Amino acid sequence: MIPLSGKYYVECNEVFRRSTNQPDRMLDEMRKFAQGRSGLRILSVGSGVGLFEIPMLLMLKAKTKYFVGVDVNNHACQVLRNRLQEEFGSSLDFEVENLSFDEYRTDRRFEIVLFNHAFEYLDGNPLSWIQKSRELLAEAGIVLIFSPNRGGINRFYDELFAPFLSEDLKPLLARTGINYSTTTIDAECDLSLLDGDEEDSNRIRLLSFLTQTDCRNLPPSTQREFAGYFLSLRKGETSMIPHPTTLFVL
Ligand SMILES: C[S@@+](CC[C@H](N)C(=O)[O-])C[C@H]1O[C@@H](n2cnc3c(N)ncnc32)[C@H](O)[C@@H]1O
Repeated sequence: MIPLSGKYYVECNEVFRRSTNQPDRMLDEMRKFAQGRSGLRILSVGSGVGLFEIPMLLMLKAKTKYFVGVDVNNHACQVLRNRLQEEFGSSLDFEVENLSFDEYRTDRRFEIVLFNHAFEYLDGNPLSWIQKSRELLAEAGIVLIFSPNRGGINRFYDELFAPFLSEDLKPLLARTGINYSTTTIDAECDLSLLDGDEEDSNRIRLLSFLTQTDCRNLPPSTQREFAGYFLSLRKGETSMIPHPTTLFVL
């Protein structure tokens, strides 16, 4: 089994993102926060190649003062810089720092510190990230954490990698005494590609992303077995499977 990495990871992630309505549902939540606000200074921790951040910034362009992305992955940072430049040119003040969040130092302050699908990947102490992100807030700033729930599509990751998920964050936050609210987003992922042409490169990309394994050179029987697992999670006759996430607002 070869773990996904680099350029192929990005390609697979893009196919996955096109198959799920989770980002659109998350953008709806971001829109609510931005209502009536302007001059937003936004930090995204674990900004990746900006698959969520770019659409978010396009939506909030008129309201955003500057954007900072922080990510440990050098390739992802380069892709994000290029994409921001292509989309916004000099119309958006932005910087992308190739660092781990622990190493990030700044005098800047932010109205929004965003962790989007970052907590389950971040390698370190979640409480210290929460503490640090709160220290970076401007007055009336908020920390937004989108964190997947155990269930639906995420069951696979839970069984395989036991990542840090929303159910782990709740007791941790409760112990800190920090006030927070949560909203559950019942998004869904469309798996019809997995049922389609076995030679379709997008089918293999989706399967690779879902399993976090480069499936290109796996025997067809193994690919079928992997696909069968995810297809078994479908709801009734539809091609959709639950892809739930929780939004924490601190
Ligand atoms: C699933 S990606 C999310 C990307 C982006 N937020 C999005 O929604 O498109 C998670 C990212 O967290 C980054 N990451 C992991 N540990 C990190 C750390 N300690 N500090 C900063 N970034 C980290 C990874 O490199 C990866 O790009």
